Amino acid sequence: MSKIYLVGTGPGSADYITILAFKTVKLANVLVGSRRALQLFPDYQGETLELRARNMDEMMTTSVKLAREGNTVVVLSTGDPGFSGVLKPIQKLAGELEVEVVPGISSLQLCAARLQIPWDEANLLTLHGKGNSAPILDLIDNGRPTIVLPDFRVHDLAQYLLDNGALPQRRVAVGERLSYPDERIFQGTLQQAASTEFSYLCVMVIY
Ligand SMILES: C[S@@+](CC[C@H](N)C(=O)[O-])C[C@H]1O[C@@H](n2cnc3c(N)ncnc32)[C@H](O)[C@@H]1O
Repeated sequence: MSKIYLVGTGPGSADYITILAFKTVKLANVLVGSRRALQLFPDYQGETLELRARNMDEMMTTSVKLAREGNTVVVLSTGDPGFSGVLKPIQKLAGELEVEVVPGISSLQLCAARLQIPWDEANLLTLHGKGNSAPILDLIDNGRPTIVLPDFRVHDLAQYLLDNGALPQRRVAVGERLSYPDERIFQGTLQQAASTEFSYLCVMVIY
């Protein structure tokens, strides 16, 4: 039976890629991923398909089709495929196609590690691509830190929380460009986060 592989590549640096991820990529004759994920495998010689925000649906359909036709298709997912990654869209399309997930270290896990947050006692949430930050309001006052992938930019989410009654002096942290040489860990208040520029690659923590 045909099979498609979904491989987590970790938060960005090659140091966080598992040996199994490298072994699985070696099996591929079609490798699918974002530019930053594909760049992690410079020795790969086969066909590549680049994922972009705008061609996501089309690329998922093509990946499943190519796997059904007998190709060994590996779809790369930064972080872990099961957290705001490619697992959900592929499951919707896979039908009878067998799916194998090779887990990766999520940006959220690395953020928890950097800040020494035991994440079995945290709220874990993604707003990425949802266009609606409201689900966070149900969580942030339950006594646990909330580790969240913002919908768009950190300062917009911080402002949204302020607009919805969160206290300006509330403690927050931001893990920006985690694992890259220019990684930054911000710790401060919600008010400060709302007036700070961050890149789009951020994990936010609301304590
Ligand atoms: C489509 S989601 C992918 C999440 C991924 N599956 C994971 O487990 O980390 C993309 C979002 O993940 C977060 N992210 C991914 N890599 C990151 C990094 N190196 N540093 C900080 N945040 C990162 C950012 O919030 C980014 O907008």
